[in-house]
Amino acid sequence: MLMRRSATAVRVWAPAKVNLFLEVLARRPDGYHELATLMAAVSLYDTLEFTEKRSQTKFGNEEGATALRCDHPSLSTGPENLVCRAVELVRRESGRSDGVGIRLWKRIPMAAGLAGGSSDAAATLAGLNYLWRLGWDRSKLIRLGAELGSDVSFFFAAPAAWCTGRGEQIEPLRLSRALDFVLIAPPVGLSTAEVFRGVAVPSEPRSGAAIRQAVAAGDVRELGRQLHNRLQPAAERLCPAVADLFARLAGKGPAGQLMTGSGSTLFALCRQAGEALSLARALHSARDELGGARVFVVRSCD
Ligand code: C5P
Repeated sequence: MLMRRSATAVRVWAPAKVNLFLEVLARRPDGYHELATLMAAVSLYDTLEFTEKRSQTKFGNEEGATALRCDHPSLSTGPENLVCRAVELVRRESGRSDGVGIRLWKRIPMAAGLAGGSSDAAATLAGLNYLWRLGWDRSKLIRLGAELGSDVSFFFAAPAAWCTGRGEQIEPLRLSRALDFVLIAPPVGLSTAEVFRGVAVPSEPRSGAAIRQAVAAGDVRELGRQLHNRLQPAAERLCPAVADLFARLAGKGPAGQLMTGSGSTLFALCRQAGEALSLARALHSARDELGGARVFVVRSCD
């Protein structure tokens, strides 16, 4: 997560993530699922800008309002937006009641398994920590992130992490080389809760040891062979485009391909940046067959 302060504002670039491995270990009594997942942040960003906003009430007090503006017409900017919930959490935790103006430029597809909303929430915690000079350390931000959603905390440990529990227990990982991907995002998103409801919990879950080894060794071919997402069959039942696009990516012969998170986006893992560009070009030239899916060429974040 990249941050810049100007005289009047703090800007944060909030990356998307992909899951290279996602295993479901158990259903929990609280309605969540116990997971083991390997996540990597990638170079597709929403941008958020935070500015101080001081307004006076008729009694002369300062009023703490949140004014969120977003360039995406279908995203609600009301109190249920994860960004607004993150502001409220920071106010509660810090005791500050200052108003804040937020502009959000959305580029990460929504309900797509790329954690755009979670990344925006993480950026809000980090951005206000900086704007209001709260001095919170990373472990505090990780704890607050977990209150907002299962994959918010990851963004404080990016570029890569092994995540367990609901997804909020983070073990940062080093990527020994940059990874190149092509993302393909169908126009229809998927509800995370609905996908989880359809998942079959395996009696013998995969451990993920082999993919962790491949990441540590920087072995992209082996990484491609070890890609795994337990949620993909459930997502394919809800959205047949996922299976169709998966087969299309496989047909192009990348190191591997997979759905990310709870979908509906898929990615191809490529051996080098040049291969990602050629693959994206090939998809683009057959765009009439992609059912309106959008294609992005991205790289793992530093
Ligand atoms: O934590 P978050 O709000 O992102 O989760 C959205 C929904 O996804 C949850 O309400 C739950 O239904 C499902 N989920 C789950 N197990 C997880 C994470 C999410 O069942 N580990």
